[in-house]
Amino acid sequence: MKICKTPKEMQHFRATLSGSVGFVPTMGALHEGHIALIKRSVAENDHTIVSIFVNPTQFLEGEDLDAYPRKIEADLKICELAGVDALFLPTPLMMYENDELAIMAPKVKGFILEGASRPGHFDGVLQVVLKLFSITTPKRAYFGKKDAQQLFMIENMVKHLFLPIMIVPCEIVREPDGLALSSRNVYLSTTQRKDALLLSKSLKKATKLIIEGERDAVKIKTMMEEVLSPTKLEYVEIVDRAFNLLEKVETKDTIILVAARVGTTRLIDNMWV
Ligand code: PAF
Repeated sequence: MKICKTPKEMQHFRATLSGSVGFVPTMGALHEGHIALIKRSVAENDHTIVSIFVNPTQFLEGEDLDAYPRKIEADLKICELAGVDALFLPTPLMMYENDELAIMAPKVKGFILEGASRPGHFDGVLQVVLKLFSITTPKRAYFGKKDAQQLFMIENMVKHLFLPIMIVPCEIVREPDGLALSSRNVYLSTTQRKDALLLSKSLKKATKLIIEGERDAVKIKTMMEEVLSPTKLEYVEIVDRAFNLLEKVETKDTIILVAARVGTTRLIDNMWV
């Protein structure tokens, strides 16, 4: 497995690859969710590139940029075993200049939900993903549905900028008890982990209500808020696949989203129904 530490090195190596290239952008501390993305890319493409870069521009003041888990040795092994061809490991200084080109998330859908809780977050995500795309020029890029709004923002960017890249959404990977995998789960104590489970429990409750015939978004959100009451809830929302807020659930076109803090750890989860 080739390790590229600068954008130039990555671009040179990319130029030697013929056939299709799959790309999996990550911030490292790889878990089974990332491994599923990597495996899918390896299965669907001639070559796979993974990037590990804790991107400073998508973290807000006071967020966990410095504390974000870093496990580079373990990550290297995971990528090697999974059959990754190249790992891109840049530093912030290599990725950014002082007076940078600004990229802004769309003014409506980039500023609701995650965009409202973390203003500027999606600007940073889109900025880095566009840079990573232009360095690795993949045919396909793999993203988890857990960051549903991020996935939507990236699909939109690809559409708006006519980028010749296929975005491949991948299913959320969960612990056997339902907790969605996240690099941030390592912050949780045993007691906090129990509260963290309430996110997936509230989503299961919502799904059950929908199966039983409930369509009223307010009623579903109220039931979910009850389940989530031990957490510091940021939002529960029901949207269609284009991130329009819904008053009535439309099955096969709905995403139920939740964001809450457990202790100081901010967690998100969602269910596509
Ligand atoms: O989802 C993530 O891990 C990050 O937001 C991404 C897409 C790698 C951009 O930094």
